[in-house]
Parts: sequence; C-alpha cells; structure tokens
Amino acid sequence: MEADKQTMTSSLDQSLWIFGYGSLIFRPSFHFTCRAPGTLRGYWRRFWQESRDHRGTEMFPGRVVTLVPDPSGHCKGVVYRLSRDHQEEILSALDTREQGGYRRIEIEVELDGGDRVEAIAYYGDSTNPNYIGNESLEKIAQIARTAHGPSGSNRDYILKLDAALTDMGVQDPHVHGLAMMLESGVASDR
Ligand code: SIN
Repeated sequence: MEADKQTMTSSLDQSLWIFGYGSLIFRPSFHFTCRAPGTLRGYWRRFWQESRDHRGTEMFPGRVVTLVPDPSGHCKGVVYRLSRDHQEEILSALDTREQGGYRRIEIEVELDGGDRVEAIAYYGDSTNPNYIGNESLEKIAQIARTAHGPSGSNRDYILKLDAALTDMGVQDPHVHGLAMMLESGVASDR
C-alpha cells in the first residue's frame, strides 16, 4: 500500500512514523495506515550486526543490517505511519522484536516527493554487543549460508531484503552483492 499524497501531507506533523531499512521493509508485522519509500541521509545500510535471536543463535550468530553513520551515506527504506490507536502496543512489540542490540533513534526521512517526516528507526550502534563492524561480503555470505534462527534462515532474510529493494527500484550494492553471492554459490565452501 503506497501513500497517496493527500493522506501523507495531511498527517505529516502529527503522526508517529517508523522507518524500516531491513526486515521491517519486507515483514513489518504491524498495522499501519500508510507506507511510503523514503531516504535516510547520513547512514549506510550494512550487514554488520549479529543476530542471535532471529536469523542465528547464540552458538552461531547470523548477520543482519544496521545503520552505519557516514556524512556521505544514504539509505533507502520505507516509512510507515502508525495508527494512533495502536502506537504504544506496536512500539512495545517492536522493542521486543528489535532487542538484539538495537535502540530507538529519532531521524528525519526524506520522502520521494521531497517532504520530510520525523520517524523512529531501530539502530544498532557501534557500542552494542552484537555490532561486528566491517566484514567482507565473502565472510558475511559464508556465515549467512548456514546461519538459521527462530525467524528463519539468514539467507532468506538477505534474499527477501534484496527482492524488496529491487521491487522498489533501489540499487544497494552491499545488499545486492551479498544476495548474488548467496544465489551463485560464491563463498559456499569458505
Ligand atoms: C529494520 O528493519 O529497520 C531494522 C533491522 C531489522 O529488523 O532487520
């Protein structure tokens, strides 16, 4: 469901928005009243966060995305406007879902038409215990090929994110490069 311009602008000032850049793009699992593509400037999306609770385990953590600050960075994702009646319960459910090192931050997201909304994003900063930092795509692919957790396989997370971004017309070489490696079998025996 994409936002129509009138619905969007009539609510820019008062609504609570969530910005999703990872699984929240392809599996939001909450009720929203509109959805629109948007860009977060000043960050890159990177698979530099361990997942011990969704796409991996304590023994074999997978890799999921976080935001990495960089003045020249930009991260295309999706903003969701939350239904007023359910805001608290949705945030509480998201806090539980994103508890693996993420915390809420308030950010400004640029919508495709040029409008801006204040939104909440879940961010695993470089001090969180699951932050890995820079790893090669080969290494991430090697881990993602076998990691599996309660929410499914790590491979599935990456391929679904890549497919969702492709559907939106977004080119993210970090995500797409990783997806290509997983699909082609590169790094399967490393
Ligand atoms: C997000 O999707 O915005 C946060 C990270 C994740 O759940 O994959």
